[in-house]
Amino acid sequence: MAKKDSGKEPSWKADFPIESKRATHVSRREFAKFLGLLSGAFALSNGFIVIRAMAFPDERLEGEHFVVDADKVPVGEMLQFEIGGEDLIPYILIRLEENKWRAFEQKCTHLTCAVRYREDVNKIECPCHNGWFSADTGEVLQGPPPRPLPQLEVVVREGKVYVREGERENRAV
Ligand code: FES
Repeated sequence: MAKKDSGKEPSWKADFPIESKRATHVSRREFAKFLGLLSGAFALSNGFIVIRAMAFPDERLEGEHFVVDADKVPVGEMLQFEIGGEDLIPYILIRLEENKWRAFEQKCTHLTCAVRYREDVNKIECPCHNGWFSADTGEVLQGPPPRPLPQLEVVVREGKVYVREGERENRAV
């Protein structure tokens, strides 16, 4: 049996008095205007990033920086540290073997998530989008990162670990 329309407004409409015309109607012109503004905002932000990169190129690390006493980092372990000028840059120091050290920037080259060394697979993982890097060279092994991890040279001298810009291989002096 068909329900008879009493002509009366349902009670839920009285409880939620939304003017449906105002809530749902967006004209084509308004939508096009919104898209135009959104595109403009994206273009401006991209332009800002490019100008900033050109005006303030990444600083090269000057000199040698003490990181830690070598005996504080067991083989297979990773240590997070920061160095830099005005903006501190996070790095990871990895002790792959007794005399084999690596230091990489900790920011993933995809969208700058923090990477970490996984001893169980001997690789560097970016957990954000399943990105993987070689723990030996920093090269991309898998996932969306477009470039290898920036690497510092590691120098071990008299039981102390230092890093500096330079050759990729670490040296024991
Ligand atoms: S941010 Fe590292 S894979 Fe996306």
